[in-house]
Amino acid sequence: MSRVVKNLDFSWRFKRGDNLAGFNPKVDHSDWEEVQIPHDWSIEGPFKEDNPSGPRGGYAPGGIAWYRKFISFSEEYKNKKVFIEFDGIYMNSSVYVNGDRVGYHPYGYTSLSYDLTPYFVFGDYENLISVRVDTALQPGSRWYSGAGIYRHARLVVKDYLSIERYSTYITTPKVSKISSIINIKTSIKNEYAEEKTCVLKVSILDKDKKVVTTIKEEKNIDSNSVYEFNQDVIIEKPNLWSTENPYLYTERTEIIVDNIIVDNEETSVGIRKIEFNADKGFLLNDKSVKIKGVCIHHDGGCLGAAGRDRTKERQIEILKEMGCNAIRTSHNPPSPVLLDLCDKHGMLVMDEAFDEWEIGKRPRVFDEGTLGEQIRRPIYAYSEYFKDWCEKDLRTMVKRDRNHPSIILWSIGNEVDEHALPQGFRITKKLNDIIRSEDVTRPITTATVHMEGSNEIGLPSILDITGYNYHENLYEEDHEKYPNRIILGSETCSATPFEVRGEYKRFIESADSIESLRNIKTGGGDLSVITPASRFCKAENSWKITKENEYVSGLFIWTGFDYIGEPSPFAWPSKSSYFGVIDLCGFPKDAFYFYKSQWTKEPMIHILPHWNWEGKEGQELPVWCYTNCESVELILNGESLGEKNISDSEFLHLYWNIIYTPGSLKAIGKINGEVVCEEVINTASQPSTIILAPDKMELNSNGQDLCYIKVRIEDEKGNLVPTAKNEILFTVEGSGKLVGVDNGDPTVEESFTGNKMKALNGLCLAVVQSSLHKGEITIKATSSGLKDTKVVIRTN
Ligand code: GAL
Repeated sequence: MSRVVKNLDFSWRFKRGDNLAGFNPKVDHSDWEEVQIPHDWSIEGPFKEDNPSGPRGGYAPGGIAWYRKFISFSEEYKNKKVFIEFDGIYMNSSVYVNGDRVGYHPYGYTSLSYDLTPYFVFGDYENLISVRVDTALQPGSRWYSGAGIYRHARLVVKDYLSIERYSTYITTPKVSKISSIINIKTSIKNEYAEEKTCVLKVSILDKDKKVVTTIKEEKNIDSNSVYEFNQDVIIEKPNLWSTENPYLYTERTEIIVDNIIVDNEETSVGIRKIEFNADKGFLLNDKSVKIKGVCIHHDGGCLGAAGRDRTKERQIEILKEMGCNAIRTSHNPPSPVLLDLCDKHGMLVMDEAFDEWEIGKRPRVFDEGTLGEQIRRPIYAYSEYFKDWCEKDLRTMVKRDRNHPSIILWSIGNEVDEHALPQGFRITKKLNDIIRSEDVTRPITTATVHMEGSNEIGLPSILDITGYNYHENLYEEDHEKYPNRIILGSETCSATPFEVRGEYKRFIESADSIESLRNIKTGGGDLSVITPASRFCKAENSWKITKENEYVSGLFIWTGFDYIGEPSPFAWPSKSSYFGVIDLCGFPKDAFYFYKSQWTKEPMIHILPHWNWEGKEGQELPVWCYTNCESVELILNGESLGEKNISDSEFLHLYWNIIYTPGSLKAIGKINGEVVCEEVINTASQPSTIILAPDKMELNSNGQDLCYIKVRIEDEKGNLVPTAKNEILFTVEGSGKLVGVDNGDPTVEESFTGNKMKALNGLCLAVVQSSLHKGEITIKATSSGLKDTKVVIRTN
């Protein structure tokens, strides 16, 4: 009887509060809320100025809560072992089975598993699983953490002779298009009272699940001992994994005793070779690949930390459209789902472990009583646990994640104070050793902002790669000084100048200052004059220096998506960040198109701002254009305003100052004198219609698939009304439900989990989740003064 994996996502009972004796089987939970996981109770709010999470956590509520669920398992498994696995619980979780506490796990971002065998009853018995989650001590994580069982969970029933959890370690020691070698190490544990003779069968399957090759090895394994199999498999003419062609094989391990499979496991395999070089940067399968990356925080906008699999896949699709090829999981281990999707879509990953080591990041805040005086408040983030838990957490992260071809780098930390302190050596060495004992194939880095101090104490000498946060100004000097150093922009400024999608007030006000910015040659250093234009120029320059210097491996901009927490300004009622080039809804901001113009080849053009400037008639307005074409002609109301060549521009964009007249502004992109693309923006009239644009018309009836519905407010001619603020009310009927609404505004007052949302600059979002039934979902949108609309999607 092979391994049984039972999904535990459904039918949990949930209640906030502590003194609930949630572990006690006698407690009746019939009036507790029924929830499914991934679940995040803090996204439901209320978000309040006096919530202790403060700006760090986006003013979200924390606290203590309990989850409970009954499970029974057939008598026929009574001679098996049973484990429970959680991909992540935020945080300080205690798990109980039938009243017994089976374990405690503080870090909210690492996976956890417990052996339930001594506590679990097979047969006609309802086993009670209870989980206590505690996020009461705040402020905690940077940034919004969410609260609860926010990733998947499962029960695993295995034989007493089984593959040890996370013991499978797959590497590709020889990679060539002619023939490659896959090495597979797997540990088999025999927990029987007697020796067992087993056959380990390893098969490699192609992407259509056809077996490519199989090997078998027989072994006697002593009672209560572990044996590590180590096998090489040769693959002739392999399909290599790359960002363009993320070909995945499957490795299947089966343990066979007396011709019966007693345990089995499957792991995706990408055959690929990675190399970082001090002169040539990053190479994938011997080809130079510039890392065009984004930092992402783990929240999924209005779904909070409980982003479903589709939330993550949609994020990757949006990033790919921008030409992005890498994600830094700032500043914590990601969900396994995200990594599977990165493997599938060819997205490179820098997997980051910690945001704090022993010294906590105490935010400097202004004491309200003594205006002007900066104080440091206590925080309750990972530094509280680092000494006792860093080894376990880091080992879990590396063992869990090391088979993902998408992961090219391990990061042991972000901007920790120890980077420039003597104890930085001790801690870096310790973390390096832990990683090296589990994976030898990927380089180790850490994202450093105290770069000068770190150089002074020489910390980069014990790291494989030096991760520079916001220090492009040092690249050239350091490349000369330390010729063997591999330089990576682990965090760089994004081209979004504190910008809310579709807002241009600050852009227009600071447009004049562009003249004074011509001298900015690098993206590092002085941020004292922060205007949208200066920030944009810093971002442009950090890409320029990265692109023009082969030795710079790449960059990770801060950030791909807006995230909850770290609002700018750092104060209520703002609760989410502005740093993303894509807003909290997943809608591109203008900066998205800057990167698209730099990172993609398919001809594209984007102009900004919008063209609805009532009251500014006759005044000069700046118009910027991002394009990957050679030249752009701008035409206002049929009249050409001239053509500009990108090669003549001192920036990576084109700009005009033109006199505003309402009407139609058109940009035409040309290559070799041929028109290859165009964009037109029309001055819109009054809001008239609501348009619903679902990203999918069919959902899987798995109870977790999502449809993201973009809501546009249009005038009667079908133009987006870029200033529209109409409030939309949603009603959803049929085999699905509304699970989130948002508009990307960091100061939005409406709940993420309500049924209405105001448009922000013409757009808002509704997210609908499928049920477990096949059928139809009807989504209706109404707003006073606008024509109603509805859309019907299918669930299959
Ligand atoms: C970095 C930090 C990030 C975020 C960012 C904002 O220094 O690593 O977590 O705070 O600044 O610019």
